[in-house]
Amino acid sequence: MREIRAIGDPVLRTPAEPVEGFDRELRKLIDDMFRAMYAVNGVGLAGPQIGVSRRLFVYDISGRKGHLINPVLTVDDPDPILDEEGCLSVPDRQTGQPLYAPVARAAGVTVEGLDRLERPVRITARGSLARCFQHETDHLDGKLYVDVLPKNEARKILHKA
Ligand code: NI
Repeated sequence: MREIRAIGDPVLRTPAEPVEGFDRELRKLIDDMFRAMYAVNGVGLAGPQIGVSRRLFVYDISGRKGHLINPVLTVDDPDPILDEEGCLSVPDRQTGQPLYAPVARAAGVTVEGLDRLERPVRITARGSLARCFQHETDHLDGKLYVDVLPKNEARKILHKA
């Protein structure tokens, strides 16, 4: 089982490199990512979170499940929606459970990328899926959800992490 990296690990702050080889190793990596995510009841997991600095993520949220490789995100509806958000890489130091805070995210997005067989994928999303895509794409750029919080909110989270 791949270990999930926590805030403080430099890999989470490093912009990830594009995936290049669409081979068996990549397919195994995706399977490993799903396994690591499900083991901790996560709804999304990006490469850097298991120490793989590559542009891909997996997700399983609100009945929508999949993976995206080299995703490019476009905001279709910038209307900010505030909702609780947490991250497997930002756990409470005491309990090990993810810390949650209300995060403002765009209401609607489209992600375009590739699947494990290098076929083009394009998904338009709203609600929790749109939130998830923004959160996971941020991971690929070395960003965490605490970066988009108001400073005092971020401070509260970082104090416990
Ligand atoms: Ni996360």
